[in-house]
Amino acid sequence: MKRFTSGLPDPSAPLSCLPGRNLERHELEEVVEQLERHDALWRGLVGFSDEHRHFAALHRDAHLDVWLLCWTTANDTGWHDHDISSGAVRVVHGALNESAPRIGGAPAVRVVPAGHTLSFAPDHIHRLTASVDRSISIHAYSPALVRLGQYSIDEDGVLRRQPVSYLDELRAFEAPVAA
Ligand SMILES: [Fe+2]
Repeated sequence: MKRFTSGLPDPSAPLSCLPGRNLERHELEEVVEQLERHDALWRGLVGFSDEHRHFAALHRDAHLDVWLLCWTTANDTGWHDHDISSGAVRVVHGALNESAPRIGGAPAVRVVPAGHTLSFAPDHIHRLTASVDRSISIHAYSPALVRLGQYSIDEDGVLRRQPVSYLDELRAFEAPVAA
């Protein structure tokens, strides 16, 4: 994110020069890609659990929140949207499966390997799982997540949206770790 850190000869603190407004998708992509390179900021927070997706908060203000997520192949977000937030996900180790629902058809599935970024606008609905055990990803959302929509399909095929806290999306098993 050169435009936010260009005053620094070595942007060793990539979240220190944010613009004070909501970020565009390409800016969210820059945030997660910068953080991948600054692994000292998150490497010590890595952990894995089959019962609960392991996560750590790397940053949160009104315009941006950034999370480290660690995945086993047992972890599954379920179908969800991000309410009014755009997002970017950088896979830094392993690979994730991203599924998008299709009415009357099988979900559209793509594998996002390490070194690749996916991003989305608020209209996006998806489901993330690990394609490779012990995968690691960095997620940035703008504005910061407050609520999300979690979807379920009942036995009659009726789709329902349940508003949930952003902490429910992350399936917390412990309090977020402050950056
Ligand atoms: Fe998501």
